[in-house]
Amino acid sequence: MPAGTEEEKQRAAIAAAALVEDGMTVGLGTGSTVAYLLPALAARDLSLRCVATSPQTEWAALQLGLRVEPFTVAHLDIAIDGADQISPEGWLVKGAGAAHTREKLVAATAERFVVIADSTKPVRALHPPIPLELLAFGLESTLARLGTVQRRGVPISPDGGVIADFIGEFSDPADLARRLESTPGMVDHGLFPPDMVSIIFVAQGQSVERRDVSPR
Ligand code: 5RP
Repeated sequence: MPAGTEEEKQRAAIAAAALVEDGMTVGLGTGSTVAYLLPALAARDLSLRCVATSPQTEWAALQLGLRVEPFTVAHLDIAIDGADQISPEGWLVKGAGAAHTREKLVAATAERFVVIADSTKPVRALHPPIPLELLAFGLESTLARLGTVQRRGVPISPDGGVIADFIGEFSDPADLARRLESTPGMVDHGLFPPDMVSIIFVAQGQSVERRDVSPR
């Protein structure tokens, strides 16, 4: 099975869906790996209350009969989402689908945040681009202060944010995360620290490796 196949995404998604129990509140991520999670969850026929991180996920989940509610709770039992890059320490880069702001908020709300990935996602060291969501107000000023940033040619986020990518080199994701967070005009960035991540499932061919990163 070649790396990064649809089968790998599906295997990782099924492994994560098996962690979900009847009665849970569930955060649903966004992307092509999550597209396999939704039917895997629906097939379990559990009574779940879900929160979606994007209109695309909400629509797909509703089509499958999952119950999706507005995000009005302060606690979720579990959230499951994909990633663009996974470092050996458990840092993630997310946001290729431009949903990282909502994804981070949902992940932070969940007791356990579970990442599902195919074998192309683990990397030796994180690298650019790092997705950003920026306030539209004062955008030129924010872009100028960030420097090595490119606007992405995608629509504004459902929350009105402008999607861009930090394309500068970096060696320490914690340093870069601090720098991005201290930049006025930043809504959020796509760096997720290991202490936010509970479990990572990476599918490699026929098998799925489980890594417990930061038990909460
Ligand atoms: C969307 C995301 C996705 O989770 C990430 O881009 C992975 O997507 P895919 O499963 O399609 O590779 O962060 O904002």
